[in-house]
Amino acid sequence: MEKIVVQGGDNRLVGSVTIEGAKNAVLPLLAATILASKGKTVLQNVPILSDVFTMNQVVRGLNAKVDFDEEAHVVEVDATGDITEEAPYKYVSKMRASIVVLGPILARVGHAKVSMPGGCTIGSRPIDLHLKGLEAMGAKITQTAGYIEAKADHLHGAHIYMDFPSVGATQNLMMAATLADGVTVIENAAREPEIVDLAIFLNEMGAKVKGAGTETITVTGVENLHGTTHTVVQDRIEAGTFMVAAAMTGGDVLVRDAVWEHNRPLISKLLEMGVEVTEESEGIRVRSQLENLKAVHVKTLPHPGFPTDMQAQFTALMTVAKGESTMVETVFENRFQHLEEMRRMGLHSEIIRDTARIVGGQALQGAEVLSTDLRASAALILTGLVAQGETVVGKLVHLDRGYYRFHEKLAQLGAKIQRIEANDEEE
Ligand code: EPU
Repeated sequence: MEKIVVQGGDNRLVGSVTIEGAKNAVLPLLAATILASKGKTVLQNVPILSDVFTMNQVVRGLNAKVDFDEEAHVVEVDATGDITEEAPYKYVSKMRASIVVLGPILARVGHAKVSMPGGCTIGSRPIDLHLKGLEAMGAKITQTAGYIEAKADHLHGAHIYMDFPSVGATQNLMMAATLADGVTVIENAAREPEIVDLAIFLNEMGAKVKGAGTETITVTGVENLHGTTHTVVQDRIEAGTFMVAAAMTGGDVLVRDAVWEHNRPLISKLLEMGVEVTEESEGIRVRSQLENLKAVHVKTLPHPGFPTDMQAQFTALMTVAKGESTMVETVFENRFQHLEEMRRMGLHSEIIRDTARIVGGQALQGAEVLSTDLRASAALILTGLVAQGETVVGKLVHLDRGYYRFHEKLAQLGAKIQRIEANDEEE
């Protein structure tokens, strides 16, 4: 098993870094490819991540032909054959996001059987909103032996109000609605850039989706969808992670192709801390001076609020800003596990219910730590950059789900970081 080793203390990051296509955009796009009963679909700017390989397997398992040209970052999907209805446990248990095949399979085949996603370290993550919405569109849902079965010869349009703007539920319902009879209105829909990317893609396939990016999405069903060519939107969370890395090392980094609008909630907090953030023609430039960094108060919220997927990395930044910062996590109930690991590095922090209090500006020491989830792994590596001495981060399986060559990109910016093979039983 591999580990990342960081020599901390003197890691001012300087230079430019290139961002990949967004993991959280490409996964639902791959699920949506099975809606195309005519023609092939080509996705460009596809990131090389373990979650993408898993989703490719899910789509292959549904009887579509999937070809991933990794060098070109292109996935080609031919879903013109008979699509099967079952997404088995072996994939859904690997990656919860596989649940987004439920809506497309049901819409295309009239019957879907998808394994229930299991537990998750960052929170309980139910799928009730996905199921309620599909039921409103006429699906009969049953749950047996760890599987959800949904049946509907013809889905029909419906007016759906979501209790919470769930990203996955919005995606599942939008995709199901593209082939339903009549008009579906999704109120209190998620507004993330990845939702907008999916809507653009569906429209390129011949769907009629309006309002993505606002809280009301309207989908008018069509007879069928066809293949298309689409470029995946840039990964705002990977971009944000490098912006934070630059800020916390007193660095000067141009994050190429990062989209200002997508990172607005993060940028506003960086500016409030005293970090210089500027929009340049090639991307976003972040410059900081450690002695100027101020403590801040942050609360995660659905987009356009501060993203929960930047919470862990931002707490790493809070450790270097003098004074007491607070982070309130409102989206997932168990997403502070990285702070327990950071405590092993000397962090003074306290968690009371959904709020973490972080005492910044104290010297941290390198330690052996374990990633607890994807964003936690990035946060621990970033903390290793500023801690004194050596930090060894294990359980990189989480990191590889969402970051492509993270250590190489950091090393190119000047970080003293390596990825090594380690014979360690606990992995
Ligand atoms: N929720 C429900 N019922 C539902 C669906 C969601 O109660 O039916 C709750 C969840 O339990 C959670 C909250 O709503 O507390 C948000 O869940 P949401 O459905 O919005 O999240 P998701 O679709 O499961 C996506 C991203 C996550 C990201 C969240 C929130 C993908 C593949 N995953 O998950 O990404 O944190 O939206 O923005 O798009 C990550 O990349 O590290 C990651 C976890």
